[in-house]
Amino acid sequence: MSRAGTLFGGGALAEDDPAPLYLRLQVKIRRAIEVGTLKPLDALPGERDIAEAFQVSRVTVRKALSGLVERGLLRQRQGSGTFVASPPQRVEQALSRLTSFTEDMRLRGLAPTVRWLDRGISLASPQEAMRLSLSPNDTVCRLKRLRLAGGVPMAIERATIPTRFLPDPMLVDASLYDVLAARGSLPVRALQRLCAANLTPEDAALLDVPPGAAALAIDRLSFLDAGTPVEFTQSWYRGDAYDFVAELTLKRE
Ligand code: GLP
Repeated sequence: MSRAGTLFGGGALAEDDPAPLYLRLQVKIRRAIEVGTLKPLDALPGERDIAEAFQVSRVTVRKALSGLVERGLLRQRQGSGTFVASPPQRVEQALSRLTSFTEDMRLRGLAPTVRWLDRGISLASPQEAMRLSLSPNDTVCRLKRLRLAGGVPMAIERATIPTRFLPDPMLVDASLYDVLAARGSLPVRALQRLCAANLTPEDAALLDVPPGAAALAIDRLSFLDAGTPVEFTQSWYRGDAYDFVAELTLKRE
């Protein structure tokens, strides 16, 4: 039996099942993932092997695979085939500590990395000027980054920092807070707002999740000791990768 036949239970697709062929093929693939015959990051056999094993056309195989890619069960890499997607390790994050992404991931034994999406210097927008207590002629550094942990995309972050605290966006290599600390401008307090959001198709593609997937949208405005705002960051964290945890205490009269 071919590898495809062995992996997916082989044989023709059930004749008496009225569902379209591609859906029946999807059931076979899903089952192989559920029972662990196919594990996260395993490569699937080629389209031709699957088509031969089930006596269906390659168009049917392609349709079945792309449906599972859209649902986040499989991942396709150009030139290297189709793989079983790996569910990210869920990260528990305390809501009361002011930490950086780099610090958070290292504490969990995950290697943080960055993919730069954009960075530059601009005049502050009216919204940024208001948030960061700037005047309209003040300049800011804008950093847009995809944050990864252990190679898995975790969050998209768009940070704005007045140039008086960060004169050049190229100064940031891995950690923004490390650079701010080295310049004596590490924030010591922050206001953070969390809300639910559905990812746009572009952001979902960056985070390797299906379009419209749930995310946590987090805005952070952080301050120096003297109360001067130093950073305004908007982030979109993968909803399937983060648990935010807060400790609650009873207010005693
Ligand atoms: C978190 C916060 C951001 C902050 C970032 C700094 O992700 N949500 O507001 O800018 O940490 O992280 P790093 O120092 O790794 O760049």
